[in-house]
Amino acid sequence: MGSDFLKKFEGFSKLHYEERLSRLQELGYLSKEDIAYLQLGSVSKKLKERVELTQCFIENALGYFPLPLGLAANFIINKKSYVLPMAVEETSIIAAASKTARWICEEGEITTQVLSALSIGQIQMPEVKDYNSLKNCISQNFPEWKKLINKNVLSSMVKRGGGLKDYELRSLRRPDGRTMAVLHLYIDTCSAMGANIINQTCEYLKEPLEKASGEKAGLCILSNLSDKRMVQAQVKLRNQDSQLIKKIEEASLFAEIDPYRACTSNKGVLNGVDALLIATGNDWRAVSAGLHAYASRKGPYSSLTKWRVKENELHGEMKGPFMLGTVGGVTDLHPTARLCLKILAFPKATELAGLCCALGLVQNLGALRALVTEGVIEGHMKLHVKNLVLKAGAKTEEEQKTLEKELIKVLKKMKRITLSQAIQVFKEIKKKMD
Ligand code: MEV
Repeated sequence: MGSDFLKKFEGFSKLHYEERLSRLQELGYLSKEDIAYLQLGSVSKKLKERVELTQCFIENALGYFPLPLGLAANFIINKKSYVLPMAVEETSIIAAASKTARWICEEGEITTQVLSALSIGQIQMPEVKDYNSLKNCISQNFPEWKKLINKNVLSSMVKRGGGLKDYELRSLRRPDGRTMAVLHLYIDTCSAMGANIINQTCEYLKEPLEKASGEKAGLCILSNLSDKRMVQAQVKLRNQDSQLIKKIEEASLFAEIDPYRACTSNKGVLNGVDALLIATGNDWRAVSAGLHAYASRKGPYSSLTKWRVKENELHGEMKGPFMLGTVGGVTDLHPTARLCLKILAFPKATELAGLCCALGLVQNLGALRALVTEGVIEGHMKLHVKNLVLKAGAKTEEEQKTLEKELIKVLKKMKRITLSQAIQVFKEIKKKMD
């Protein structure tokens, strides 16, 4: 299966834009209409429709800020093949994801599991008079509140198997020594991200809670540290150069024990995660905030990923909270998000969460492999050369090819290259050509 799938994407990155779209149409990922939409480069040809849509999303709308959209190929996750849409502006991220996924496809595997699927809504009680009687009151009333909420607020979730499931009461010590209590409501929002419905649930319970307990409630809001909505991903690589995998393990240890390195390593993880979240119309700030908070759950900020050598194999893992959706909100409204979800065959939220986690882990492996071998600059720069060729003013195919060749030579020699060097090299090429 792996090699057949890889063959379909062989040379994909070298194709011209139009050929790439045709290949995706042949493979059944895109329709003729999807291609026309992508070529439009906007959400609609009609100004009125464009404006109306921006106003569905935001206030004081001026227009759109289009990000480049690409596809990472070669992913086989839980034995199922995927191409992952990624909206991102940084060079090399998609190339690294596709290249690393190909490596794993040839020599290993990617697996994911959903560990739990409950979101957290918080009701704060800023200063409780009697924590124990609050605790008893909630335990007595919760079954009734649960029925009411599931009927009056979450009935559509209940129909799909979700709804309010459980609660937890937490006691926090305030700086003035008094007690703050926080009621957590655990809600299954199915394939919706669920932010609004979680907030509504908390608001709904505020009054009955205050009445029954005699305590004053404060904030009613979801928590983005959704550590009851967890997924994990693993990567295994066999038949590898023992030096290489040892270096990757050492790089992993560095990020596990040093917050300065952990932050950069996690940024690399989010290069993948966020790009997939944006492409599918998800709130990437919510997931990023959750992952960063989770990365410091043990005290010092640490790495989201861990790589170890086990019996000559490289094993990687990542675990984290992924509060995202595949129905409702922007995922339904934004035509590009719809298209990207279609490419993924309209996954459930739990499946998309697994894909995000797997992509983050693979992206991290790609970065570590580059860092422990040639460094990230070379790969970055090779792609950057293409941009420099255009910026330096090369127009005809001959000019572009010649300049690219020359710039790669400069890059190899100097290890770096700037726009002014590119312009200089182009001037010399032009002189010779004229
Ligand atoms: C750059 O966008 C991401 C990296 O810095 C990640 C890392 O250092 O692991 C290359």
